[in-house]
Amino acid sequence: MRLSCAGFAGVAALAAAATHQPAVGSRADRVNNVAIIGAGAAGASAAYHLQRYAALEGVPVNITILEKTEHVGGRSVTVNIYDDPALPVEQGASIFVAVNHILYNATERFGLPRSSLRDDEPDDITAIWDGDDIVWQSAAGSSWWWDAARMWWRYGLAPYRAVRLVNDVVATFLRLYEEPHFPFRSLTQRAFELGLHKVTAVTGEQFLAEKNVGGGFASNIMQAATRVNYASNLAHIHGLEAMVSFAAEGAMSVAGGNWRIFDKMVLASGAAVLRNATVASIAFAKGGGDDDDAQKYVVSTRDTGEPSAEARELPTAFDNVIIASPWQFSSIDAAKGVLKHRIDEIPYMKLHVTLFASPFKLRAEHFKLKPGSRAPSNVYTTLAPGEDAGQGPDGVGRTGFYSISTLRRVVNPKTRRREYVYKIFSASAVTPAFLSSILGARVPDTFVGPSSEAAVEAISWFRPHWFHSYPVELPRVTFQDPVVGRGLYYTSGVESFISTMETSALMGMNVARLIADDVAGKRRPEAEGEKTDAQDEL
Ligand SMILES: Cc1cc2nc3c(=O)[nH]c(=O)nc-3n(C[C@H](O)[C@H](O)[C@H](O)COP(=O)(O)OP(=O)(O)OC[C@H]3O[C@@H](n4cnc5c(N)ncnc54)[C@H](O)[C@@H]3O)c2cc1C
Ligand SMILES: *[C@@H]1O[C@H](CO)[C@@H](O)[C@H](O)[C@H]1NC(C)=O
Ligand SMILES: *[C@@H]1O[C@H](CO)[C@@H](O)[C@H](O)[C@H]1NC(C)=O
Ligand SMILES: *[C@@H]1O[C@H](CO)[C@@H](O)[C@H](O)[C@H]1NC(C)=O
Repeated sequence: MRLSCAGFAGVAALAAAATHQPAVGSRADRVNNVAIIGAGAAGASAAYHLQRYAALEGVPVNITILEKTEHVGGRSVTVNIYDDPALPVEQGASIFVAVNHILYNATERFGLPRSSLRDDEPDDITAIWDGDDIVWQSAAGSSWWWDAARMWWRYGLAPYRAVRLVNDVVATFLRLYEEPHFPFRSLTQRAFELGLHKVTAVTGEQFLAEKNVGGGFASNIMQAATRVNYASNLAHIHGLEAMVSFAAEGAMSVAGGNWRIFDKMVLASGAAVLRNATVASIAFAKGGGDDDDAQKYVVSTRDTGEPSAEARELPTAFDNVIIASPWQFSSIDAAKGVLKHRIDEIPYMKLHVTLFASPFKLRAEHFKLKPGSRAPSNVYTTLAPGEDAGQGPDGVGRTGFYSISTLRRVVNPKTRRREYVYKIFSASAVTPAFLSSILGARVPDTFVGPSSEAAVEAISWFRPHWFHSYPVELPRVTFQDPVVGRGLYYTSGVESFISTMETSALMGMNVARLIADDVAGKRRPEAEGEKTDAQDEL
């Protein structure tokens, strides 16, 4: 592990510049035990950065990661085509971009090869379909919306304005990575200081209209982007997340799976990782005394494979606990008084992601194209003119799905035939009738997977899965803050601001900094009330 990386040294220099005064009762002299619940982007980043910040501050930390599943990465998860480990494909979070500094830097530091999202062939067509008509199409590249942006002849200045707007918003967001905006105890406050609350307060539709990026460009191109990225129409996603959907220039992923970033982070952190360990409860340790600062936590877990077994207390009492998973789905019981701030339940999308391999190409007629015309390889969707922009799963509309992509061409090891690997995002499980229609080949009504139906010619490999993928990103100006108790932190509040691997990793890095500051007795001037240029710009 290299401790001398440029990025980190930069942060260290900034940190050193901050006022440094050991607080009374500083815990710097003994090992600080930290439990991290969840080994997704947030938990892995928290572990990695905490180890590094602690090393820089010269304070000892002992990190234990508790992960419900067997794998590191959380919603960054791959499955293997034909169950062949040499053919992994993303089922969850699939792309990040160069301005995602934490992820991008990690790929550099750990020497993880980056790859493009799909292996498009030159004659592949990417189209946006509204259920009746193809409203836009191009010869594809991975940044299809960038192609779209060049469609000035059709949409006038709107694409140009949209790109500028996205760049402005991204530049403002990136200030969260630097002092005095980093670290932050309140995301709500930082969003306000940076003027980003104005972008999250309104819908993507309102924000774009306000900035003169309306009309066909918004409803066709931008909405296709919010639908494929967040399963949402523009009318029900806030402006910031709509902008993020469009900030896809140079989209990339890690060859072999994005989860490898988080796996490397966990390894580099030196943390002990307990897999198959479902955290059942967090309580105060007995004998903590009246001194609040000395109050420790006991964490109980049970083996994930034995959900009815009695949960057992871990032998270590923890000074800090980081909850790095959406609280509402974690089924963790917090003892009375542990959560000083209630963690609000918020609506999440339930997204179906269906991966499958087939020897058939997509059928033009399904998309109401003339029989015999060439079908697109990738179909993004939008609403038809006059169609109601429903919210959540109701928003999928007439197309019945958010996107269909051809990810790869592969050779089926059994038949030696060339096959296509598809990914479908939809609001409900795809049906055999739907699959039959898009492929133009019969998929029996009884089909649930090739193993149950020996001879399904149309589909040789099938992996349906659904996720609580991300929040329904409704406009809001307050966000669940990362400090939820004494030495107790929560990362998933960032998801209603922006839900990406990078923002979860940023929140992990942020709570790591807060803990390291706390252990080292470091105080920082708060950037409270600061008015930035950004507030006027956005
Ligand atoms: C289909 C899909 C596509 C997406 N596409 C993208 C994309 O292209 N780019 C992008 O950046 N983001 C994308 N996202 C969003 C991205 O996956 C998330 O924002 C991010 O991964 C969240 O990371 P996290 O660490 O906060 O949470 P998670 O990844 O959910 O990690 C939480 C971890 O906690 C564990 N856990 C939960 N409860 C317990 C418990 N009681 N005890 C122990 N462990 C527990 C879970 O098993 C999990 O490993 C996508 C998400 C989905 C589902
Ligand atoms: C990423 O690396 C760049 C270049 O070394 C550095 O300037 C930046 O601070 C790093 N950012 C993070 C978040 O690690
Ligand atoms: C570090 O944490 C592990 C549990 O992951 C525990 O077994 C060990 O005793 C801890 N070490 C110290 C010095 O507290
Ligand atoms: C996790 O549980 C699965 C299923 O019970 C088991 O096959 C696997 O070996 C376990 N892994 C660990 C690390 O305990």
